Amino acid sequence: MFQIILLSVSQFVSNLFYGDGYYPEVYWCSGTSVNDRFYPTYHLAPPQGWMNDPNGFCIFQNEYHLFYQYNPKTSLEPGIAHWGHAKSTDLFNWKHLDIAMYPDQEYDIGGVFSGSAIIENNTMYLLYTGNVKEPTQIERQALASSTDGVNVVKYAGNPVLMGEEHQPNIRDPKVWKNGDTYYMVLGNSYNNNTVGRVLLYTSKDLTCWKEECVLDGSDGTLGYMWECPDFFELNGMYVLLFSPQGIEPQGDNYRNLYQVGYFVGTFDYTTLKFTRLTEFVELDRGNDFYATQTMLDKMGRRIVVAWQDMWEQDYPERKDGFTGQMTIPRELTLSDDWKLLQWPVKEIENLRGEVLYSGKAGGDTCVELTEKTGEIVVKAPVLKDFKLILDAGNATVTISYDYSKGKVTVDRGGNDGVRRADWRPKGKLEMRLFVDRSSIELFCGKGELTFSTRYFPYDKVNVKLGNDCGADEMTVYSMKKTVPPPC
Ligand code: FRU
Repeated sequence: MFQIILLSVSQFVSNLFYGDGYYPEVYWCSGTSVNDRFYPTYHLAPPQGWMNDPNGFCIFQNEYHLFYQYNPKTSLEPGIAHWGHAKSTDLFNWKHLDIAMYPDQEYDIGGVFSGSAIIENNTMYLLYTGNVKEPTQIERQALASSTDGVNVVKYAGNPVLMGEEHQPNIRDPKVWKNGDTYYMVLGNSYNNNTVGRVLLYTSKDLTCWKEECVLDGSDGTLGYMWECPDFFELNGMYVLLFSPQGIEPQGDNYRNLYQVGYFVGTFDYTTLKFTRLTEFVELDRGNDFYATQTMLDKMGRRIVVAWQDMWEQDYPERKDGFTGQMTIPRELTLSDDWKLLQWPVKEIENLRGEVLYSGKAGGDTCVELTEKTGEIVVKAPVLKDFKLILDAGNATVTISYDYSKGKVTVDRGGNDGVRRADWRPKGKLEMRLFVDRSSIELFCGKGELTFSTRYFPYDKVNVKLGNDCGADEMTVYSMKKTVPPPC
């Protein structure tokens, strides 16, 4: 009883200061403090420690839940993965919850790797990969569940899928239901770990899985391993979204260590045959975008989030006590020519604060962002070059549109800082840019081209335009803080 009173008093006091999203009494804040100079204000990031892939993204009892690969011990390395956990009613105001799963079983002792959620009978079921590293890597699929959306219990009969013949890289289950059958895709590497592919399984009860077929695979040019597969219907077509490892750079394409991309095609539930009708297309063209996961929400929106970071980087935030953040949740739609369009979910408009600038803008415009965060919306003439600069002294991001070449370039400076992609705007040249302390997300046009990139400005950030270019309209907003401060 005494404990309950103490907890409620401390919760009440913390709510006074932080709103009801912050739980300063949870143990993961003890003894650690994060330098918040790069810590996001409206993107989900770990309270401290290391974050990578989004996991178990779902809506349960009217709240969005987002789990993530988490190392609570240090921000310097991924370590042995746990599942971190946060929930939200609007995809921006997040509450951190206790760690949902620890690597505490014989079959997941090397890490509670990525996986997904499915809601049935008011219960949240989580399918994930149990990783074992010693003496050699083995990856088996496991089941867990939660009836209150907080406490997660691992299934006693785990692992639910051994996948003996597909070891040692078979992971990241994404589960959905069609009719009375559950379906699951898994990323796999075969032929002595040289070729990536996606395997399809079915089940009637989530515990007993049958291998059906290879849903799709590399022809030798698309990498040695396909991580984090996702398969869903959009506008009558089917999208296979995945994160291949091992594609070589080709000109402006595939510049990151690993990519995220997709095929669009048709799928027949009777033959279980996926027929791709498009080439492989990269989903985002910035430096930091990986391991996507989608969910279908109550409004029928297909929402995607990605880890806004990349493996094997040495970003300064790591020494500040946290690593990684999620992208803004984006609604996916399909264009008439079968390209995925990405647009920030509309709830983000509630985050707009003060209008810092509104009107025509030119080479002499200079708008200082509030606390290095903001949203910038520009409309510019379509037949001219255009340049927008985030000038922070130590770190500058230059976004330019080259009219003659029909290309957008995002240059964050430094080694390998340039990313470029083709784009021909329809109508006016329109760009929407979200800046949050150490990240930018650029949406071109109606979302036909995006760039997600990290950069690390120390002091203030000024928004400027190139000397000889202008915008017919530019609006700069400050943004409300929606994520809890770090530890
Ligand atoms: C992708 C990934 C997944 C794996 C997880 C481990 O970034 O490598 O394939 O499940 O990270 O943290």
